[in-house]
Amino acid sequence: MQKKKIIIINGPNLNLLGKREPGIYGASSFESFLEELKSKHTDFEITYYQSNTEGELVDAIQKADNVYTGILLNAAAYTHTSVAIHDAIGSIQTPVIEIHISNIYKREEFRHKSIISANCIGMISGLGLKGYELGLEYFKK
Ligand code: DQA
Repeated sequence: MQKKKIIIINGPNLNLLGKREPGIYGASSFESFLEELKSKHTDFEITYYQSNTEGELVDAIQKADNVYTGILLNAAAYTHTSVAIHDAIGSIQTPVIEIHISNIYKREEFRHKSIISANCIGMISGLGLKGYELGLEYFKK
């Protein structure tokens, strides 16, 4: 059976997971989490992309269209500011699940508004890195 292809796209500062505010984002690096995720979910082919740059995230979303079954997107700070990422998600066929490690509604008010949610099929926020795994499981259907 052909494996379902999923891409995880992470935005700015998520390359620092493990070092960055561990009280909020946890002590694990994304790379070590990813290895674990891949070994647990061998029925998926999981690709990972991270960028700190808005335009590169737009490019990655556009390129993922019709290549992957789904996109797990943590746009990080751009969640709250980027009309370009909102529009990129709205321009493609491939479904996008919005992921946040922290619960954005429990934090500063400027994080309560997501510009991208309206174009995503759903959002998982506040469940730590487990949120990526739950998003992945959605695409098993
Ligand atoms: C985040 C939440 C955002 O508000 C923040 O800017 C991030 C990470 C999260 O995963 O909880 O960088 O998307």
